[in-house]
Amino acid sequence: MPQVIVSLSSGLFISFEGIDGAGKSTHLGRLAQAFRDSGRVVTQTREPGGTVLAEQLRQMILQQPMDALTEALLIFAARRDHLQGVILPALARGEVVLCDRYTDATFAYQGHGRDFDLQVLSELERWVQGAPDRGGLVQPQCTIWFDLPPAVAAERLAGARLPDKFEAQPVAFFERVAAGYAARRQADPQRFVRIDAQQSIDAVWLDVHAAMQQRGLLP
Ligand code: TYD
Repeated sequence: MPQVIVSLSSGLFISFEGIDGAGKSTHLGRLAQAFRDSGRVVTQTREPGGTVLAEQLRQMILQQPMDALTEALLIFAARRDHLQGVILPALARGEVVLCDRYTDATFAYQGHGRDFDLQVLSELERWVQGAPDRGGLVQPQCTIWFDLPPAVAAERLAGARLPDKFEAQPVAFFERVAAGYAARRQADPQRFVRIDAQQSIDAVWLDVHAAMQQRGLLP
């Protein structure tokens, strides 16, 4: 596995992952507030998206059917624009970047969910996130993975707003996506914090907060 670039100035890059319905977005907002309370400047962002161009790509990716390679290319194009325009500049300014999904989602959804070639995704990852001058990949220092059984997630999502292309997938798709996240964690256990997302919202938040403290990221 290529070396991970972690020390872009004093910036801190944290991604939030999990299947649809796992509840990660609520905690992203809470964690942003906790970092602000500790005196840090926070950039809250998301993928696909985070820039004008990437948000336009998001609309296409989430609404239109397309073959898996096309989807992967659009997602990585959005990621490239997002990295260049938002993530890298914020890290260079020493900010905390909290990103709702990043490349683990591509391996989980496109790779495992849609059964797309993981080698091709690794190549695209190297092209888009490679930092040749630093000899590694731009990856989050920490990835908070909200782990929830797909059947529970499906119950939570039932009757919610109109589902997008991925949310409309059957539970079997999310079983594969969840296995994809587990595989990503196994390949890079230091980076991942696994949170049991089946607990109450407050219990989940206590776990997220404690994990940040244990890693010395929050006082
Ligand atoms: P999500 O993050 O759940 O946002 P919201 O809470 O507003 O629905 O939606 C993004 C969707 O995009 C989600 O279903 C997962 C999918 N996705 C991929 O398939 N691949 C990716 O690389 C990323 C970043 C997201």
